[in-house]
Amino acid sequence: MAGPGDAHAIADLHADSWQQHYRGAFSDAFLDNDVAGYLLPLWAERLASPAREARTVLAEMDGAVVGLAHTLLGDHPVWGAFLDNLHVAHGLKRQGIGTRLLALTGHEVAGWSPSSGLHLWVLEQNSDARAFYAARGGVCVERAEVTPPGGDATRLNGRPMSLRYAWPDPSKLFSSHL
Ligand SMILES: CC(C)(COP(=O)(O)OP(=O)(O)OC[C@H]1O[C@@H](n2cnc3c(N)ncnc32)[C@H](O)[C@@H]1OP(=O)(O)O)[C@@H](O)C(=O)NCCC(=O)NCCS
Repeated sequence: MAGPGDAHAIADLHADSWQQHYRGAFSDAFLDNDVAGYLLPLWAERLASPAREARTVLAEMDGAVVGLAHTLLGDHPVWGAFLDNLHVAHGLKRQGIGTRLLALTGHEVAGWSPSSGLHLWVLEQNSDARAFYAARGGVCVERAEVTPPGGDATRLNGRPMSLRYAWPDPSKLFSSHL
């Protein structure tokens, strides 16, 4: 689990991942100039006074943060816990880190409430992440406009779309991957 001292490392990884994978949906101005200034205070606040329902799972390698999964338990009456952020360091993708983070997240959700589902939103353009979620048993259940970071529509490029993926039984995520 992440602590307040991890805010810088997490924000750096998160910003780099957005710059690599969200271009086209998020505006170049936001990604090139403002993303670090947006994410560092967000993570500093999240980790300094974590919500009771928040869980931030980290993957570390040689003392460095190489992956993160941030979830809000009990977020939605139908879909359950909300996986708000899942990112693996660029050079370490497809080595099982995302699978492990998702399994640990499923474990947290099931431990909190065995009847809770898990859901997330992914950019429609993010075909790699969609393939990953489908491979891990996620089902696409909804399509909607992307909610802009911090509620600021100028951070988006037009009106990109996102897809909701759901796991009604998150225990399946860790039964074979922990
Ligand atoms: C999406 C992400 C979290 C997945 O984590 P990962 O560590 O790369 O994934 P894993 O190695 O655990 O699992 C990979 C499996 O997912 C599936 N998969 C992943 N990418 C895929 C692709 N482009 N095409 C097809 N299948 C894919 C495959 O089954 C793959 O297994 P394989 O490599 O043995 O074939 C990671 O790639 C990432 O951080 N991407 C950038 C940020 C991002 O898009 N985050 C999601 C935001 S909603």
